[in-house]
Amino acid sequence: MTIDRIRNRQARIGIIGLGYVGLPLATEFAKAGFEVTGFDVDDSKCSAINAGKSYIPDVPQSELAEVVRAGRLKATTDMSQLGNMDVIDICVPTPLRKTKDPDLSYIVKAVEAAVVTLKKGQLIILESTTYPGTTEEVVQPMLEAKGLKADVDFLLAFSPERVDPGNAQHTTKTIPKVVGGVGPVSTEAASALYSAVIATVVPVRSTRVAEMVKLLENTFRAVNIGLVNEIALMCNRMDIDVWEVIDAAKTKPFGFMPFYPGPGLGGHCIPIDPFYLSWKAKQSGFEARFIELAGHVNSAMPEYVVQRVVDALNSVKKPINGSRIHLFGIAYKRDVNDMRESPALDIIELLVRRGAVVTFTDPYVPTMSHNGHALASVAIDEALAAKYDCAVICTDHKVFDYERMAANVPLIVDTRNALKGIDRPSIFKL
Ligand SMILES: NC(=O)c1ccc[n+]([C@@H]2O[C@H](COP(=O)([O-])OP(=O)(O)OC[C@H]3O[C@@H](n4cnc5c(N)ncnc54)[C@H](O)[C@@H]3O)[C@@H](O)[C@H]2O)c1
Repeated sequence: MTIDRIRNRQARIGIIGLGYVGLPLATEFAKAGFEVTGFDVDDSKCSAINAGKSYIPDVPQSELAEVVRAGRLKATTDMSQLGNMDVIDICVPTPLRKTKDPDLSYIVKAVEAAVVTLKKGQLIILESTTYPGTTEEVVQPMLEAKGLKADVDFLLAFSPERVDPGNAQHTTKTIPKVVGGVGPVSTEAASALYSAVIATVVPVRSTRVAEMVKLLENTFRAVNIGLVNEIALMCNRMDIDVWEVIDAAKTKPFGFMPFYPGPGLGGHCIPIDPFYLSWKAKQSGFEARFIELAGHVNSAMPEYVVQRVVDALNSVKKPINGSRIHLFGIAYKRDVNDMRESPALDIIELLVRRGAVVTFTDPYVPTMSHNGHALASVAIDEALAAKYDCAVICTDHKVFDYERMAANVPLIVDTRNALKGIDRPSIFKL
C-alpha cells in the first residue's frame, strides 16, 4: 500500500518541475529520508542538481549537496522513470496566455508523461496554482483514460504550494499545507505524505476547495495591494505621506493588516493567479469585478512611477528626454533574483520610450534583456559615484547603502520607502 510506504519513508517520490517550488520540496523530502527523483525538461537544472549545485536561493548549497551525496536526491530528463515512483508531485509553471487566459499546457505535458507509466497505487499530486476544477476536469480524465479509476486504482490530489521565495521566517517546512483529494483515500495518502515533512497539514474536502484556497489567498493580496496603491495615488494628490499613514494604521491591534504600495506587481503568482480565477468565474457567467479593478490599478503603477520621475526632473527644470536615469533593484522583490513579471521591465521600457538613458544596478540580476533592451548591472560603488540625473529605487534590496545613495544621487524616486527617515527635497516618494 502506498500509504504504508509513505509512513515508513519507503515511498519513492518523483517531483516534476524543479524550479522555485519543486526544488525546495524535493530537498525537504530527501532530507526526511525519502528517495527522491526530480524530473525536468531543462537538462542544465538536472545536471546542476546531480552535481550538488543549488540554483534556487532558498535551497542552501550545503543541504542540496548533502542529500545528493547521500543518494537521496537525483534529477533526470528521462520521463520513463516516472513508472518507478510511488508518488508524483507536479510543480510546473502555470502562466497566462497573452489574452490573459490560463495556459495549462505545462500541466498537460507533465500529466501526459505521467499517464504513460501510470500504475496501480500511484499517488499523483498537482501543486501548480490553477483554477478550481483543473484536477477533476483536466487531470483526472487524462489519467483515467488509461482504464484505472481515481481514488480506487490510483490516488489523485491537489495541494497548493504557498512558498514565499526569499522569506527565511516561513519556509516549505513550516508553512501549513492544504490538501484536497478526489476522494477520501487520496486525501489521506496525500496528507500522510506532507505530514512527513511539513509541520501542519490542513485536509479539505475536495480538490476544488484546495484549488480555490490558493486563489483566494493570492486574490486577497492582489486586491489589497490594488487598494493601497490607489490610496498612495490619492495621498500624493492630497499631500499626505502614505507610508506614515500605513505605519500608524497598523498599530491597530485588530481589523487591519498592512499592505504596501509599490511600483507594480511582479513574480509568478500575484499578477497571474487572480486571472485564473476570473477566467473560470466567467465560464459560470460570473464577473469578478474586484479582480479586474485591482488588475487595472496595479498594472498602471509603472506609468505612475515614470510620472514621479517626470515630477522629480521637473523640479530641477530637466526634461526626461536625454536624462540619465538609474534603477536600483530590478528583481520583482527584495533579495531575490526572480525577474518574472517584474514591474522594472515596464518602467525601463516607458523611460526609454520617452528618450531617457537608462541603466541599472541589481546584485541579484547581472544582466537583463527585454523587448530589445539589453543591459548589464552596474556595480554598486560605481553607480553611487556616477553622475545620474535621477535614480529610481524599484527594489529595496538590503545590500544597498541607502544613506550613501541619498547623499550622492541628486534626485531619487523611492517606490519602496527604502529611504524612510531621510528627509530631503531631492527624494520623491511614490
Ligand atoms: N514561485 C513562487 O513563488 C510560487 C509560489 C507558490 C506557487 N507557485 C506555483 O508553482 C508552480 C511552479 O512555479 P515555479 O515558480 O516553481 O516555476 P519555475 O518556472 O521556477 O519552475 C518550473 C519548472 O518546471 C519545468 N518544466 C516545465 N515543463 C515541464 C515538463 N513538462 N516536465 C518537466 N518539467 C517541466 C521547468 O523547466 C522549470 O524548471 C506554478 O503553478 C506557480 O504558480 C509558485
